Amino acid sequence: MKIINVVGARPNFIKIAPLVEEMKKFPHIEQLLVHTEQHYDKNMSKLFFEDLGIPAPDISLGVGSASHATQTAKIMMEFEKVLLKEKPDLTLVVGDVNSTIACALTSVKLNIPVAHVEAGLRSFDRTMPEEINRILTDAISDYLFITERDAEINLLKEGIDKNKIFFVGNVMIDTLLKNMEKANKSNVLPSLGLTKSGYAVLTLHRPSNVDNVKVFTQILEALEEIKKKIRIVYPVHPRTKKMIDEFSLDKNFAFLKPHRNIGDKNDFIMIDALGYLDFLHLTANAKFVLTDSGGIQEETTILKIPCITLRDNTERLITVTQGTNVITGTNTQNIINGAKDIILGKAKKNNVPEFWDGKAAKRIVEILLMKDLKKNE
Ligand code: UD1
Repeated sequence: MKIINVVGARPNFIKIAPLVEEMKKFPHIEQLLVHTEQHYDKNMSKLFFEDLGIPAPDISLGVGSASHATQTAKIMMEFEKVLLKEKPDLTLVVGDVNSTIACALTSVKLNIPVAHVEAGLRSFDRTMPEEINRILTDAISDYLFITERDAEINLLKEGIDKNKIFFVGNVMIDTLLKNMEKANKSNVLPSLGLTKSGYAVLTLHRPSNVDNVKVFTQILEALEEIKKKIRIVYPVHPRTKKMIDEFSLDKNFAFLKPHRNIGDKNDFIMIDALGYLDFLHLTANAKFVLTDSGGIQEETTILKIPCITLRDNTERLITVTQGTNVITGTNTQNIINGAKDIILGKAKKNNVPEFWDGKAAKRIVEILLMKDLKKNE
């Protein structure tokens, strides 16, 4: 069975790592790794391959950044050439980025079946590019691997055949559990002058938050208050860096001035994006996390670190119902109140969601092998 595994953007690398490793165990599987290079900076890509021990991509498409339509179209054009040459039995895509939908769509148009890992999550907010990518990818996939049981309800409502849906758990958590020990060796805390639980971590990159000056300002006003109580560490995403410059936000928020950070008594430490292991160690030792990322809501649930989500909704509802996640939206006072609650010791308690046990990749590969056997009977 020949499988093409697709990655493109930072969260994809974390999800593909355990699948590549699991597939290696089966000589019957021939796997090729295709990197669209939607993300290409060293800190956004190569560092993750190194940290996670992912083999170098077999094929890189060199697509890079562009508008949604241009980026998606370019990926499709390049990926089509790969499919025509390699003729795989299956394309496997993960997550909800533009590379996910672009490669899924290219495959089905050539009658090549698609497996979607992390299917069925819904924020019900169609202004998010990721929500469109999720709905469309799920609609055309042949195998929908879900991380939580509610995802099945979402998919059934959209008319997806129940027989295509498989509850397997969460590959992102496979990677987290496997790398905890390694991450403990990171020296990111001393290098930034931090001590356990003495700081909060911030991640911020959603277009709805950072491309909109009003919303971005509301969030920064909250951070200005929170940093009076606890130091904030911010590994900055390239999109956000660009928008800080474009809106000249460092004029009103001096704490955003570049390189005014490490080693001194600063209450807002802005650093370049970190690799997987350093970021995991930073998160695992934080007092709490403020984020608009999807994956980090899941990681904090497993790490038992309180998470404040700077969005009005989440597609990962289980992190709220069972995990440490609180959705504050982007209202300044709501964010401050969320942080205050945690600082005052009123953080939520959490459960470990079902099947978030480090064995999701194993379940996925087992199912793919079983289906392949049946096909050849
Ligand atoms: C993408 C995903 C988002 C995911 C995020 C994780 C889509 C629609 N969005 O958002 O779901 O949460 O990745 O990081 O697929 N840039 C660089 N270097 C890079 C990559 C990007 O400088 O290596 C800059 C470019 O200016 C680019 C901008 O960041 O225009 C945005 O990159 P893009 O991949 O379009 O979207 P993200 O915001 O990273």
